[in-house]
Amino acid sequence: MALTNLLPALLQAVMKGQPKALKDSHYPGWHLAPTTGLLNDPNGFIHFAGRYHLFYQWNGLGCQHQHKGWAHWSSDDLLHWQHEPVALLPDQEYDRSGCYSGSAVDNGGVLTLCYTGNVKFDDGTRTAWQCLAVQNSEGGFDKLGPAIPLPHGYTGHVRDPKVWRHGEYWYMVLGAQDLQLQGKVLLLRSENLWNWQNLGEIAGSGLGGLGAAGYMWECPDMFTLGGSTFLICCPQGIAREEKRYLNTYPSAWLGGQLDYTKAQFHHGEFHELDAGFEFYAPQTTLTADGRRLLVGWMGVPDGEEMRQPTVANGWIHQMTCLRELTSRDGKLYQQPIVELQALRGETRTWQGAADAMPVLDVQRLELILESAGEVTLNFADTLILQWQNDELRLARRSLETGEWLYRYWCGQARKLQILCDHSSIEIFINDGEGVMSSRYFPSHPAQLTLTGRAEVRAHYWSLRSCM
Ligand code: FRU
Repeated sequence: MALTNLLPALLQAVMKGQPKALKDSHYPGWHLAPTTGLLNDPNGFIHFAGRYHLFYQWNGLGCQHQHKGWAHWSSDDLLHWQHEPVALLPDQEYDRSGCYSGSAVDNGGVLTLCYTGNVKFDDGTRTAWQCLAVQNSEGGFDKLGPAIPLPHGYTGHVRDPKVWRHGEYWYMVLGAQDLQLQGKVLLLRSENLWNWQNLGEIAGSGLGGLGAAGYMWECPDMFTLGGSTFLICCPQGIAREEKRYLNTYPSAWLGGQLDYTKAQFHHGEFHELDAGFEFYAPQTTLTADGRRLLVGWMGVPDGEEMRQPTVANGWIHQMTCLRELTSRDGKLYQQPIVELQALRGETRTWQGAADAMPVLDVQRLELILESAGEVTLNFADTLILQWQNDELRLARRSLETGEWLYRYWCGQARKLQILCDHSSIEIFINDGEGVMSSRYFPSHPAQLTLTGRAEVRAHYWSLRSCM
């Protein structure tokens, strides 16, 4: 399909309209979602010139993984977001099969996007260019072209540049697959965003004591927090365990120290970033006041995604809520950003046996629950959370076969903070020690019922819409 320069404006008009998506009872009230078509990875998350910008992988033409460009929202409070002109569409030779994921930087006052130009050939092979684009006076982006060709020693799967400034240089982590089909993360350095030196592999399958760890690492992100350096990545092909890494592709973090001069990352073992059914390709940025925020795609590629009922209404997927990252003792914690508290209605509290707790409407709900016993939370018979002494077990039926599927968080949960928004749930465990994010598709009005004789203490709020 030929894509012209007119298309960004046309697509913006589509997004401003009132397509079927907005009338769908599954459409979120306070999470970001596409008003038409498919959304996947968050891209270019940045605080720039007093506003937050969040771009995303978008196919405005349908719910399939095709024609990827970057659509664009901005916000001044991290709650209310507005559509901006679509930033990138795959209209050049070097990005013709998709403007794939990447990041944004403030280059001397110019909002600059670093993205992957993906090119697929008829024989099934592909290549990738790491490209630049700069914001123009209309709020759109002008492509500057490819800065980095495919590095030697890697297949065409090299993508998802995350760029940051450290001292005198720009640094980039890049997801890659080597010629032995092992997933790797490369570190590159540049003085000017154009000329890049590949400093080598800093993490990946077979490196740093990890053993076999997948055939492709997508969407790397690297940052320092509380004295440790963290690498977030999506290692495709790591082995499923009985209770971890159960999604088609997982998201994980490694913590340690990056030696910039030797380009070596000394890190510990893998940790799953989110133990729910839907979470992938997260990206982080710094806020104006120095907090490290994360947003993820509440979806996973190549699974049952096309069975989701929203496809019938012309849209699919949403982002997670924005989360603040903190680190304690080298561990990463995630909590909903404090800004979200502004959505809370009247505070309600309850204490007593779980069985006796009032039934709650889950359409847009925040529930903070503390208990030392065993409790079952039933979300409209569509999603069941079993809170046991040594684990949480989340059950949901397969959209394909109807059989029950399970996800686990192993450990002693004392406190849950649960956020529901029409067709999504995010369960924060022990003030951010773990998270389980999942989509589910109840018919509204939908209720949450608790069972079990254990004593619970609850605070809860109905949440306002802000989209
Ligand atoms: C992750 C990913 C990225 C790629 C993008 C394409 O979900 O596969 O590696 O850049 O999505 O949409």
